[in-house]
Amino acid sequence: MSTTENRAEFGSTLGFILSAAGSAVGLGNIWKFPGKAYACGGGAFLIIYLIIVAVVGTSVMMAEFTIGRKTHRGSVGALRMLNEKFAWIGGLGVLTGFIIVCYYCQVGGWAMYYVAAYITDVQTVWADPMAYFLGMLGANGFPVGALVWGFIFMLLTAFIISHGTAGIEKMSTILMPILFILLIGLMIRACTLPGASEGIKYMLHVDFSTINGTAILTALGQAFFSLSLGMGVMITYASYLSSEDNLVSNTGIVCVLDTLVALFAGFMIIPAVFATGIAPGMGGGFAFATLAGVFMAIPGGQFMGMLFYFLLFFAAVTSSTSILEGTVAFLTEEKGMERKKALVGCCIIMEIVGVLYLLSQVYMNLKGIWISKDGLQFPIFGDFLEYLTDRLLLPLGAFFTTFFVGWIWGPENSIKEATGDGRNKFALAKPYAFVVKYIDPIAIGAIIVAGMVFGMSIS
Ligand code: PFF
Repeated sequence: MSTTENRAEFGSTLGFILSAAGSAVGLGNIWKFPGKAYACGGGAFLIIYLIIVAVVGTSVMMAEFTIGRKTHRGSVGALRMLNEKFAWIGGLGVLTGFIIVCYYCQVGGWAMYYVAAYITDVQTVWADPMAYFLGMLGANGFPVGALVWGFIFMLLTAFIISHGTAGIEKMSTILMPILFILLIGLMIRACTLPGASEGIKYMLHVDFSTINGTAILTALGQAFFSLSLGMGVMITYASYLSSEDNLVSNTGIVCVLDTLVALFAGFMIIPAVFATGIAPGMGGGFAFATLAGVFMAIPGGQFMGMLFYFLLFFAAVTSSTSILEGTVAFLTEEKGMERKKALVGCCIIMEIVGVLYLLSQVYMNLKGIWISKDGLQFPIFGDFLEYLTDRLLLPLGAFFTTFFVGWIWGPENSIKEATGDGRNKFALAKPYAFVVKYIDPIAIGAIIVAGMVFGMSIS
């Protein structure tokens, strides 16, 4: 039932790069990465993360790009076209994406909530940033505001993708460069706050005794999440590329941009944690509560804060649209559903799961509706969704994708597509073939199995 007729295409290479980077750069970089880097030991975690991105991340992205561009189909159709028996790998990715987008839209809504709060009520945010953050999540009663903003964010995501790739490309081209510049500015400001040097030291201090299996699995899951890998989104995006585009350089640029943004966010938030003395802990608190200290300390902080949350929101929306696009492409291309119906159906289920995610953060714990391990520290349903996707489903998706390219489709076919039949240079073609065939499946497989056998938990 797949069809390639009338498929949209990205208007330019830059448009594609910024859209793919827009998908990659998101809440994962700014909301998740700094908290994990902090919890898993700072400098040593950064090194492990960089190695994983350089070896595993780039090769999985290349594998996905070549599958997508070769077939010009969404992930399920793409795999089916290359080998009918393996379409389910695409299906697994669609399922993963769907779970992610449910909670992603809620957190995107928090960014919008904070834009509004910085415009209208900044003194209350600054009076007690952590209390404000927990209040938004339901510490003082039913979290109506967060629910409404989460709903608006989801509607916006749906609205944008109802217009196809052109809208995403246009927005990404304008706002990604601004996000980049603003992040650099904020990082410099955070690093020059009094007391920030302890945070910088923490991030640069390499102590490999802090690295255990949990830290490696965390880094792997984070890399896949951050680079939007393991769920076929990059297959779908590359399917909208023309054969003229250079997949080798595109892969390098997208991976470098995404990793730089994660590092900037880490070097913005961790020094701010040390400088402001706000206890680190809950993941969301890093980007929401901690940064209040930075904005309070700088001239024009209210405006800067508003801008930051607006850009966090934008980073989130360019990612959420990419995930939903993958699901909708599947339903329309594979199941023959009308695009509108597919969108509405997705939105209803997304909203139900998303609301449960939001309520489980704080509200249900306080009300005793959800059994919680450590009061506010362990929002079970929220953690469960993130564990399931980051620790299991994304690595599994990447495992099967690389297994497919390495052993079924063949690295030589992937390389042929990557070079546009020899038109572009691919200096690392041989190492890529080796990594995608042996290193990726073995390393990812071993880490998944170790995680399941030893029951690693986030430290
Ligand atoms: N990469 C996005 C982020 O870092 O926030 C999240 C994401 C988007 C994950 C698309 C997976 C995906 F397919």
